Amino acid sequence: MTSIVKTNPGKPSRDSIKLAAEVIREGGLVVFPTETVYGLGANAFSSEACLKIFKAKERPPDNPLIVHISDMGMLMEITEDIHGDLIEKLEKIWPGPVTVLLKKSSKIPDTVTGGSPLVAVRMPDSLLSLELIREAGVPIAAPSANISTRPSITDSRHAIEELAGRVDLILDCGPTPHGVESTIINFTGTTCILLRAGAKPVEELEKIFGPIEVTDFSRGLLESTVPLAPGMKYRHYSPGKKLYLTATAGILQDISQKENLRDEIAIIASDEICSKSRLRCIPLGSETNLDLIARNLFAALRELDKTSCSIGLIQPFSESGKGLAIMNRIRKASSGRLESAESVQDFLH
Ligand code: TXA
Ligand code: MG
Repeated sequence: MTSIVKTNPGKPSRDSIKLAAEVIREGGLVVFPTETVYGLGANAFSSEACLKIFKAKERPPDNPLIVHISDMGMLMEITEDIHGDLIEKLEKIWPGPVTVLLKKSSKIPDTVTGGSPLVAVRMPDSLLSLELIREAGVPIAAPSANISTRPSITDSRHAIEELAGRVDLILDCGPTPHGVESTIINFTGTTCILLRAGAKPVEELEKIFGPIEVTDFSRGLLESTVPLAPGMKYRHYSPGKKLYLTATAGILQDISQKENLRDEIAIIASDEICSKSRLRCIPLGSETNLDLIARNLFAALRELDKTSCSIGLIQPFSESGKGLAIMNRIRKASSGRLESAESVQDFLH
C-alpha cells in the first residue's frame, strides 16, 4: 500500500516530514521532490533498504545511487580523505543541483555504489529534502524516481501514475523547479571531468572548480562499452513511442506544415514553432528560455505517449548553459536523427 501525502515543498507540513522520516528510518521507500526531479529515497546506511530501491525501479544493481545529505557533518561521515580546499569549494555550490564523486567511508554499503570505492554525493537545494534528511537523521540514497529507462519524474502526477503500489509513501508536491537532474562531476583524478550535464551549467561550475572537461559522453553523443558513470551504458529517458531528433529546428518547422501527417506525427518544440504548426504539438516554452524548456522536457516526453500519433519529433536547442543538459537528455531519449524534412517518410513505418 502506498500512502500519498500532499504538501507544499517550499513549506512542508511537520506531519508530512515526520511521517516520511519515519518511513526512511524503518527501512521503507519514500518518493520526494528535490529541486531537480523526484527522487526515490531510502536510508543510505541500510543495504537492505537500498536494495528495495533497485527492485521498485527495476534498476540494474551495478548502477549506483546518489546519496543526499543535509549538512557538511554528514559529508564527513560518508566520505574519506577530503581536504579543506575541496570542502570550501563544495560549500560554495551546496545546497544545489551538483553531484560530486568522492571516496566513500565504510558506512556506505557497496549496494549504494555498485561496489565502487567512490560515492556520488549532493546536498539538494530543496527545503523539503533538507528537512526530510535532517528529521530522518541519516543520509538518503535516491535515484531519479522513474522506472528504469523511462523519462525522469518532474511532477507528482507522474510519480503517482508510475509508482503507486511500488513504494511506501509519495510526497505529492506538484512540479519540480529545474526539471533536469543534477550536474555530476568527478575530480578525484588529475582533471575535473563532467560525467553528466545537468541543472547547474558547466560555465558556472568552472568559476569555482577551474576547467572542466566536457566529454562526448556528457553531451549524449556517444555510448561506450566502458562508460564513465555506470548509468551511461543503459537506455535512458525513453518515451514508449519512438522519438526522433531533427538535425535543425528548421527541418522540424518544415515538417510541422505537412498537414497530411497529422495522425502520424506529434512534435515537441518551442512555442515559436508550435504556434505555426499544423501538426499535433507539445510546446516546451520559448526557445529563448532554456530554463523553461528544461522544466517542461520530461513531462513532454510522457505527454507524447498519451497522443494517438505513432511517432514524435523533437528539435535541437542551443548547447550553452542549461542547453547542454537539455541536448544530452534529448539525444539519449531519441532513437535516431532526421537529416531532412523529406526523409520523414522513412521513419514512419
Ligand atoms: O538530480 C539528481 O541527480 C536526481 C535527484 C533525485 O537527486 N538523481 C538522479 O539519480 O538523477 P540517478 O540515479 O537517476 O542518476 C545518477 C547517475 C547515474 O547515471 C549513476 O550511474 C551515476 O549517477 N552515479 C551514481 N553513483 C555513482 C558512483 N559512485 N560512481 C559513478 N557514477 C555514479
Ligand atoms: Mg535517472
